[in-house]
Amino acid sequence: MTVNAGFPAVRMRRLRQSPLLRELITETELSVKDFILPLFVKTGQKIRQEIASMPSCYQLSPDCLIDEVRSAVSLGIHSFSLIWIPDRKDPEGRSALDPEEIIPTALRLLRKEFGHSIYLITDECFCEYTDHGHCGIMSPHQDRLDVDNDATLPLLVEQCLVHVRAGADMVAPSGMLDGMIQAIRKGLDNQGFSHIPILSYSAKYASGFYGPFRDAAESPPQFGDRGGYQMNCANRREAIRETALDVMEGADLLMVKPALSYLDIIYQIREEFQLPLVAYNVSGEYAMVKAAAKMGWIDEKRVTLEILKSIKRAGADLIITYHAQSAARWLKDL
Ligand code: PBG
Ligand code: ZN
Repeated sequence: MTVNAGFPAVRMRRLRQSPLLRELITETELSVKDFILPLFVKTGQKIRQEIASMPSCYQLSPDCLIDEVRSAVSLGIHSFSLIWIPDRKDPEGRSALDPEEIIPTALRLLRKEFGHSIYLITDECFCEYTDHGHCGIMSPHQDRLDVDNDATLPLLVEQCLVHVRAGADMVAPSGMLDGMIQAIRKGLDNQGFSHIPILSYSAKYASGFYGPFRDAAESPPQFGDRGGYQMNCANRREAIRETALDVMEGADLLMVKPALSYLDIIYQIREEFQLPLVAYNVSGEYAMVKAAAKMGWIDEKRVTLEILKSIKRAGADLIITYHAQSAARWLKDL
């Protein structure tokens, strides 16, 4: 970009001199319609257990989930991502395929209560359901166990079908398995669900920022880490390849996760692809803001809105965020 004229003809402060003028030339608008709220669902009754590392986020039993959704709806939030808090785990994550388990149960309940006035997205992965905490079933690889990509795919498809049959509007596979989008698309289409969109966790990095979530969902890997399937935070070009493959396989929406340390990835994916783009403002990003605010070191409202705005400015259309309710209140000036 070339600037033909300079000071004193050009004065950038001219456009910053009053709040109304600054408002007029605002480039990025944050709206409650941009938010997707993740909710943690747990078996039981009357459970509303605050998550220690994620203040104002709760593990919710289905009855309390309904109240939480109702209060979010009253703030203008209509899209939700449901996450399972396990009460039993095994090596294959079999409860992920049980239509009587808590996520399908919660989906049916919410559908009954709210009809189609809310939009329900399900996180499709096995790490919350397996006792080893990895994102699929394991098989020996060299001198250790590793996620068996191809053997996990049919199970992942089955998990999506269980959720869709129970009322999920959209599936969001988060396991970073090769070929997962293709397998799910085919599996959904074969069972009469060609209308269900797939939100791919397309560029998901192996990240320390998931720490509080793993406490919340009780899903840390019991050995090793997720470096064998999630991406290396040092890589940018690889994110483009990952995303291009998901587009080719039939993803309807794309995602970058985490958000805050990956704004360059959000920006570049927005430039290269035309699909709607979601950013996941993850648990660790949330926890840092809450902790610093609690210490009185930052202004929570100001910093939260700044972060969410920066994610949109980078190019995200939608943001999955635990800040959704408080941000919705602030945007309404409540
Ligand atoms: C996997 C899943 C994770 C998150 C969302 N879905 C955990 C992981 O990949 O380890 C993390 C979200 C967060 O940290 O807020 N089911
Ligand atoms: Zn997983």
